[in-house]
Amino acid sequence: MQSSAIGLDGFDATSALHSNRVSDLSDVFCEPLAMTSAYTFASAQEAAERFSGQQQGNVYSRFTNPTVQAFEGRVAALEQAEDAVAFASGMGAFTALCHGFLQQGDNIVCSRDVFGTTASAFSVYMARFGIEARFVDLTDLGQWQQAIDDKTRLVVLESPSNPLLKIGDIRAISLLAHAKDALVVVDNTLLTPVLQRPHSLGADLVIHSAGKYMDGQGRALAGVVTGSKSLMQVLRGVLRTLGISCSPFNAWLLLKSLETLEIRMLRVQQGALELAQWLGEQPLVSAVHYTGLAQHPQHALACRQQDGHGGLLSFEIFGGQAAAWQWIDQLQCVARCTNIGDTRSMVTHPASTTHGRLDAQARRHAGISDGLIRLCVGLERVSDIKADLQQAFDAVAFQPAVQAASGRPRSVVANG
Ligand SMILES: Cc1ncc(COP(=O)(O)O)c(C=O)c1O
Repeated sequence: MQSSAIGLDGFDATSALHSNRVSDLSDVFCEPLAMTSAYTFASAQEAAERFSGQQQGNVYSRFTNPTVQAFEGRVAALEQAEDAVAFASGMGAFTALCHGFLQQGDNIVCSRDVFGTTASAFSVYMARFGIEARFVDLTDLGQWQQAIDDKTRLVVLESPSNPLLKIGDIRAISLLAHAKDALVVVDNTLLTPVLQRPHSLGADLVIHSAGKYMDGQGRALAGVVTGSKSLMQVLRGVLRTLGISCSPFNAWLLLKSLETLEIRMLRVQQGALELAQWLGEQPLVSAVHYTGLAQHPQHALACRQQDGHGGLLSFEIFGGQAAAWQWIDQLQCVARCTNIGDTRSMVTHPASTTHGRLDAQARRHAGISDGLIRLCVGLERVSDIKADLQQAFDAVAFQPAVQAASGRPRSVVANG
């Protein structure tokens, strides 16, 4: 057999590249995955026109990709928005918002109860560019009003908040922001458009860490923002230049996941409500935070602006960190894991993980007690989750610190 230095004469390398190219996938039932960086052009002129934007069409997957566009279009439809842009992660989406809408001298008014990295993106990284971050109490409209001024460009909140399930009045905050021409950004990761549609309450931009409930299976990182066509146009410009693009593979996974979003959200919230009620009856539990409980101080507002209460709750155990850690270490079915929105139930001890970088005083200020435990309810049978939590309570009940602490009066099922 003849062979040259760079290939075998008996092997048709050109056929390996060009034969039987698939060009029509229109009858494929599952969305096809366009795992490609580049696109072909019918002519040099078409290439030039696509690059310049004179002609619609794909150029390069940093800008657009058919699978990513399918995901964007579906999220826009679910959030009842004109358009959407997907990003590599939720933080990628926040980064794009900052670069798209802020300039030196502007300020951001942000709830103190947003995801910690969102707060750092504003207070650490945006501060370097002369952009001020002002943090306010999510629930205090007076603080929002005082902080928003003519230099405010973005007003940012997450409602319900994580892990304490506080609610921001999206309609009222939007009115305050719009009076000063600021854009309202709502992080809707926890409830998804199944249970809350912030655009209908006045939000200009809705953002998701799409790897949470949207994926629902803890597999893919992605972020997505919805809003008007003109606002999304700004974000597409940022995407094209800064390159924080969503992987087509992740978009493909997410497209499939969105098909089951409603059923998963309804199932986890049913479990969360049952477990929140049950936790409120446990002698070792001093407080439960879940907006679905009638005792939650903002239950009425939550019922007004939400169509449900979601699958995440938190509760406080007597005995502080020692009791919380012992309880967590006893779990056999529920996982020790910091993600949100997976199929499997998981718990986190916020004071030593997600909020571990705060000092004790800052944690107290944020309402993160040492005995706080976050439970993200999955799709297991609720009776099995309950049995696992129960055996963990049984195991820690006889610890001296817990016995001493649980003698204190209980603040039953409150979000304080
Ligand atoms: C509510 C919320 N928003 C935003 C983010 C950031 O998203 P990502 O991890 O996809 O960058 C997270 C991450 O946990 C989150 O929980």
